[in-house]
Amino acid sequence: MLKVEHITKRYHDKTVVRDISFALETGHICGFVGPNGAGKSTTMNIITGYLQPTSGSVSIGEIDIRKKPDEYRRLFGYLPEIPPLYPDMLVEDYLRFVHEAKGLDKQKRSEQVAEAMEMADVTHVRGRLIKNLSKGYKQRVGMAQAFLGRPPLIILDEPTIGLDPAQIVQVRNILLSLKEQHTVLLSSHILSEIGEVCDEIVLINRGELVAAGTEKELVSAHTDAARYLIRAEDGMLALAENAARELCPEVRCGRADAETLELAFPKEKDPGLQLTDRLIEGGVRFGELYRKTRSLEDVFLELVNAADGNDGGRA
Ligand SMILES: Nc1ncnc2c1ncn2[C@@H]1O[C@H](COP(=O)(O)OP(=O)(O)O)[C@@H](O)[C@H]1O
Ligand SMILES: [Mg+2]
Repeated sequence: MLKVEHITKRYHDKTVVRDISFALETGHICGFVGPNGAGKSTTMNIITGYLQPTSGSVSIGEIDIRKKPDEYRRLFGYLPEIPPLYPDMLVEDYLRFVHEAKGLDKQKRSEQVAEAMEMADVTHVRGRLIKNLSKGYKQRVGMAQAFLGRPPLIILDEPTIGLDPAQIVQVRNILLSLKEQHTVLLSSHILSEIGEVCDEIVLINRGELVAAGTEKELVSAHTDAARYLIRAEDGMLALAENAARELCPEVRCGRADAETLELAFPKEKDPGLQLTDRLIEGGVRFGELYRKTRSLEDVFLELVNAADGNDGGRA
């Protein structure tokens, strides 16, 4: 549905987005994740036509932004980093105003404004002045504006930024309710806030794409070993180590602490349940045995830190 191809953005001699390409499938929610200054907003502003790329192309469906800009504009709703709200307007009046400004079908205005308010869960504040709303509600009014007319693609730039934990949960629930019915691209610098709602993740750092795929793909691609932790008494751990080496001579063994043995098997030699069997056969009595899984967050931090490390580090 959305195709971003070789987007580069340069300001004078500074390249802030470098050769970014990715595609987003219809019905998917894609998290566009990277630390502050990574180039998320710049990329989103290019996708929405607010900024011209130095090179590269963007299309939604078969519509190329440069060839049919008017048609293209009708295909997405956008919540920019700073929501374009009018503080002195009432919520519903504001949404009616945006509906008109977007040139959406006048006949459907009341119906579509009501629908957008419902989707963003702001119907109960429709008669309130925007300036009197909490930050969480303001953000949701901004989201309602992006939902108007149910565009094929919804683009949200850091919808959870600056919100408190309860407000973040509310935004997350709205995002979850969009699942399967809508195609969404949303950005965040905090993976944990959006990771669970996303079908796929595009990770960027310093203007470059570092990884893209489903959570499973990313974690698997950046996991080099199958790791297990065994908790037992010291003497038993030595036995466990022997049993593991018999199973797989390449296993790497280390102590996470005095009572915990960490085993790292090469990914392609993951023993699975054989490990339990072998420990029991070897007479190892253990309190706990579990597989250590990496989270997407671990992968994200590792990729970002690796890139910063290569460059002497940058805040
Ligand atoms: N108009 C501009 N001129 C020069 N540099 C800019 C301009 N706009 C953004 N940048 C730089 O581009 C980089 C990426 O910014 P941005 O896309 O806002 O990142 P993010 O949204 O991921 O935090 C930053 O280093 C920022 O300082
Ligand atoms: Mg930004």
